[in-house]
Amino acid sequence: MDFFQVIYQRRAVRKYKPDPVSREDILKILDAANYAPSGKNRQQWEFIVVSGEKKRALGDSYAIIADAYTAKWEQQEREAFIDYARSYGGAPVVVVVLTDASNNDWTRKMNLESASAAMENLVLAARALNLGTCWMTGPLQDEAALRRILGVPENKEIVALTPLGYTEEFPAARPRLDPELKEKVRWLE
Ligand SMILES: Cc1cc2nc3c(=O)[nH]c(=O)nc-3n(C[C@H](O)[C@H](O)[C@H](O)COP(=O)(O)O)c2cc1C
Repeated sequence: MDFFQVIYQRRAVRKYKPDPVSREDILKILDAANYAPSGKNRQQWEFIVVSGEKKRALGDSYAIIADAYTAKWEQQEREAFIDYARSYGGAPVVVVVLTDASNNDWTRKMNLESASAAMENLVLAARALNLGTCWMTGPLQDEAALRRILGVPENKEIVALTPLGYTEEFPAARPRLDPELKEKVRWLE
């Protein structure tokens, strides 16, 4: 797929087929993530590939968050969202992106931006292989639970998670707030 088509056709996928993703494809995607730019070339990202019992524990944690988050929603929508949270949309795998923790604001920002660059490479590489992802920070609302389940030490920060898997369909693109880039871009000459 053409590079720009990959960008335009990446979507947040919330419904996955249970079909497994090969380790080869997962490594190809993480290799693309590993080629992201990084502050001070520290390549300050790490990945945890989660499936099986640990993925179920992640889902139980996210379902509790989803339950509170959807408290005022219509019953049907609410149940659907909680189901999605509990199973991570039925994806066979969840990938967790970590960076180095820092008490220094500037360094923390640099580290988060580096890991976010890796995350963006990850979701685009997945799309290029016809795989769905959904960048997620919602589950971080109970970061302590994630740390416990995944065994993440204090010197690492959890940046985001994404399910990874095949999908029946990639949803339609969300409209751009400023498609002509008239408000979001200023040209200073
Ligand atoms: C930083 C960030 C956090 C997000 N957190 C969640 C999340 O917790 N749960 C979720 O279902 N989607 C999450 N999303 C996905 C967004 O809702 C999605 O990207 C947005 O609605 C636009 O849709 P699109 O990705 O298909 O263009 C997150 C996206 C980003 C970039």
